Amino acid sequence: MSEKVALVTGAARGIGLATTNLFIEQGWRVAMVDRDGDELHKASSGLNEASAFVHDVSIPDQVDDMVQSVITSFGRIDAVVNNAGVADFGQIEDTDFSRWRTVMATNLDGVFLVSQATVPALRQTRGALVNIASISGLRASTLRVAYGTSKAAVIHLTKQQAAELGEYGIRANCVCPGPVRTKLAMAVHTPEIIAAYHDAIPLNRYGSEREIAEVITFLCSDKASYVTGQVIASDGGFESTGVGLPALRSQSDQ
Ligand SMILES: NC(=O)c1ccc[n+]([C@@H]2O[C@H](COP(=O)([O-])OP(=O)(O)OC[C@H]3O[C@@H](n4cnc5c(N)ncnc54)[C@H](O)[C@@H]3O)[C@@H](O)[C@H]2O)c1
Repeated sequence: MSEKVALVTGAARGIGLATTNLFIEQGWRVAMVDRDGDELHKASSGLNEASAFVHDVSIPDQVDDMVQSVITSFGRIDAVVNNAGVADFGQIEDTDFSRWRTVMATNLDGVFLVSQATVPALRQTRGALVNIASISGLRASTLRVAYGTSKAAVIHLTKQQAAELGEYGIRANCVCPGPVRTKLAMAVHTPEIIAAYHDAIPLNRYGSEREIAEVITFLCSDKASYVTGQVIASDGGFESTGVGLPALRSQSDQ
């Protein structure tokens, strides 16, 4: 069995849990981090190759304690997946400072803090960082002033990390998922938003947690050993298209 250890944040459910399961299938051990202790312990029970760490990635002291505990338990970190995220859709006029800060605290501060705290461990393994942004960070849309801006910042933060940390052999890449039917998405995707996504995605469907996890684990693996500073959309083609798709679709239906 590989000695490799992945630290996955937001691992209690959704894309983080699917990533944990796929790492284990590929022979890794996983430090599962989440602030929702009940859900995390439910998810990690029965996974012999994983351990649960209940911490909030947006709080600096908790991040330092978490990294210390992971090193004590596993002795090394080969990959960090900054996946924990929150979504809050609202218009600019309705997004008060506390809503803005809540989104930034997890989605942006959390990625910065966990990455920074794990650099010493990643230097030792010449490991990999994978940050989870979103297609909302690549394309502006309505209601996403905080969420979309936080994710655009994660895309740039990834490039900053690649620029500086390459010197240590650490790779940093970013995955931008399209819509996936997780608890996070279903809390903010109205029927109108779901229909709009189907219309705008060449593959004409939502993605699965597993499809996103496949890209994440590839970027953490040696197969991606010369890939750094990249932003990969796993989005059914959403980001690459412009006008005309719905019209084309209605023609091919005839
Ligand atoms: N589902 C989608 O459609 C979609 C699309 C694009 C990007 N994403 C991104 O993918 C990532 C995972 O999303 P998901 O859909 O699986 O969400 P989810 O809500 O199912 O899971 C997110 C997990 O993160 C945890 N979490 C949130 N804030 C935290 C914090 N401060 N500290 C520790 N844990 C915290 C939650 O408790 C939860 O278990 C997020 O960054 C999200 O923005 C999701």
